[in-house]
Amino acid sequence: MTTLTVECADLTDPHTFLAPDAELVEMWRGFRSASPVHWHEVEGRAVPGFWVLSRHRDVMEVYRDNKRFTSESGNVLATLLEGGDSAAGRMLAVTDGQRHSELRNLMLKAFAPRMLEPVVAGVRERTDRLVRSAVEAGDCDFARDVAEHIPMATIADLLGVPAGDRDELLDLTKKALSAEDEGSCADEAIVARNELLFYFAELAAVRRKDPRDDVLSVLTTSTINGEPLTEQEIIFNCYSIIIGGDETSRLSMISGMRALMEHPEQWRRLKSGEVTVEKAVEEVLRWVSPAMHFGRRVREDVEIGGRLLRAGDVVTLWNSSANYDEDLFADPSSFDLGRTPNRHVAFGYGPHFCPGAYLGRAEIAAMLSALRTHVAEAVPNGPARPIHSNFLHGYSSLPVSLSSAG
Ligand code: HEM
Repeated sequence: MTTLTVECADLTDPHTFLAPDAELVEMWRGFRSASPVHWHEVEGRAVPGFWVLSRHRDVMEVYRDNKRFTSESGNVLATLLEGGDSAAGRMLAVTDGQRHSELRNLMLKAFAPRMLEPVVAGVRERTDRLVRSAVEAGDCDFARDVAEHIPMATIADLLGVPAGDRDELLDLTKKALSAEDEGSCADEAIVARNELLFYFAELAAVRRKDPRDDVLSVLTTSTINGEPLTEQEIIFNCYSIIIGGDETSRLSMISGMRALMEHPEQWRRLKSGEVTVEKAVEEVLRWVSPAMHFGRRVREDVEIGGRLLRAGDVVTLWNSSANYDEDLFADPSSFDLGRTPNRHVAFGYGPHFCPGAYLGRAEIAAMLSALRTHVAEAVPNGPARPIHSNFLHGYSSLPVSLSSAG
């Protein structure tokens, strides 16, 4: 077994993150103690160097400051190292400054809890039904048969995507982002991304003429300082919602299920009502940290943890380490559904804090409530298949056997 160390871990390589969870937890402990603000270089490969922040306080410091650290050159390693994101200045996640505030305020209106109420009611109903049929079947692939059907349907409700288009959209989003299986094709991902953008351009044209009660209609009919959003702003932001909200929530549910099977004593605490679903959701998010990192480009020289980050440098913020930082979390490598306080950064922090957090939480809560109601015991029924990514962490397949709560 190879042991991942600060010196040898290649954080650009998806293979690194296929190591067992315990090894990754140990690797991050090593980063936090030996080199919390670390300059990462990959020997023998033409990949530019970048900073790696692993402590909770340093990660928060960069998240909160979008003046000295910009997202406009990309916000994940892949785009930052390639030199930019083509949606910069138009898509929320890769826009800063005044345009970011304006676009975000508009999005937040569309994402207000009151607006989301019917969507959340749909989440609860759908999740309950899927878990019930999985229990009736006894054996299932929790990823394919349950989790896969929840976030995408939710986002489709939110955006007003017609029922008949949903399967195709799920397929495209999978290809566009997850690189689920080793060897999946980069060209296929680019084609899928373009098809998604094209799809939303067409649907936006329909909604502009005939607005409904959905986020796409809000985007197509709203104005900022009297001006409508550009066509590109509309389609990039639909894309951003679909990409931002599908996989992260899906992987949280799948890994949450896995964590419950691996920690039967925590399952019993949930089942008996000793811990609330709300608290359990937060621990699932901390434990899973489905978006392992985000990143920024440094705008002006700045010192963090005694090291000088220079203007132009790429800096990465590792949620998967910050959420296990012993300076903030007591006994971080124990899965404790009652953990209080639980100030994880699974949704980021500051100006780019996830606007879908309410919805993401509602989805995980619906899953935990349905499991608590319908399932007596859950056990693994085959190997889980990990996804292949240096950005997202989780599983594309999770065979389980579920026994009915009667
Ligand atoms: C931003 C995580 C669910 C849409 C973010 C960020 C994180 C995150 C860490 C900050 C990125 C940065 O600072 O660069 C998650 C997790 C989720 C989740 C863990 C589920 C468990 C959702 C959902 C939606 C969504 C359900 C939409 C329906 C977005 C958007 C942004 C974002 C549009 C960009 C916000 C901005 O830059 O101002 N998310 N997210 N996310 N998320 Fe989520």
